[in-house]
Amino acid sequence: GQFITKASLGLGRSTYLLLRPVSLTPSKAAIVKSFQDRGAKVIHGVINDKELMVKILKDYEIDVVISLVGGGNLMDQRTLVDAIKSVKTVKRFLPSEFGHDTDRANPVEPGLTMYKEKRLIRRLIEESGIPYTYICCNSIASWPYHDNCHPSKVPPPVDQFLIYGDGSVKAYFVDGNDIGKFTMKAIDDIRTRNKNVHFRPPSNCYSINELASLWEKIIGRKIPRATVSAEDLLV
Ligand SMILES: NC(=O)c1ccc[n+]([C@@H]2O[C@H](COP(=O)([O-])OP(=O)(O)OC[C@H]3O[C@@H](n4cnc5c(N)ncnc54)[C@H](OP(=O)(O)O)[C@@H]3O)[C@@H](O)[C@H]2O)c1
Repeated sequence: GQFITKASLGLGRSTYLLLRPVSLTPSKAAIVKSFQDRGAKVIHGVINDKELMVKILKDYEIDVVISLVGGGNLMDQRTLVDAIKSVKTVKRFLPSEFGHDTDRANPVEPGLTMYKEKRLIRRLIEESGIPYTYICCNSIASWPYHDNCHPSKVPPPVDQFLIYGDGSVKAYFVDGNDIGKFTMKAIDDIRTRNKNVHFRPPSNCYSINELASLWEKIIGRKIPRATVSAEDLLV
């Protein structure tokens, strides 16, 4: 959410942040305050309250909705889709995707459940007729921890790399700020209406072995590597 908010404010667009009505941790409160200082308007509520969502969308004349709920709350978007459908004034909806193309990827559990939920939300949106864009930004540029650590919050390892398999599988790693900027470019581009937008910068395609070498170059020293097999990873 922070990357998108930063980019939206950077473009001088009216930016409304929907926050759950709970007390914020000091670090989250500081982030929100910094966005408010730059002009973001905070609204309190939850996306799974249809009446409230309809009221907010109408009162603030919101025409683009970008959902950034986390993996545990994806199904709350069912109510949001319902609310957007009933107001009929939203010109573009971006559901909480921001990863792989969930219809094409073929993960195993525990990731599979999240992919299934994202696919289900896609089908609901398509049935509703709401104009949409699915942002398939691939991985946020950082070390790909297997235990679902938020990639923007944890630095790469300093003591030991865990290399998955032979470490040769490549993926696209995109800087969070670039994800924010390109997402904002997509929201009112007619070419992205009802489409998947893939972020695949050719120079950002790396294997985990290559990422490890890049990191070693940055910190100026070698770090031991341990292999994690598929069996070990999925136990
Ligand atoms: N490509 C990648 O490498 C990558 C990495 C991470 C995430 N992602 C994707 O990015 C998206 C966002 O994930 P994230 O990890 O940034 O999420 P997150 O850190 O869990 O943040 C989700 C936010 O949504 C809010 N929220 C949850 N349920 C809500 C509801 N019903 N109404 C209103 N607000 C609600 C949470 O509020 P509270 O603060 O009150 O809990 C929180 O602020 C997901 O689709 C995820 O899969 C992609």
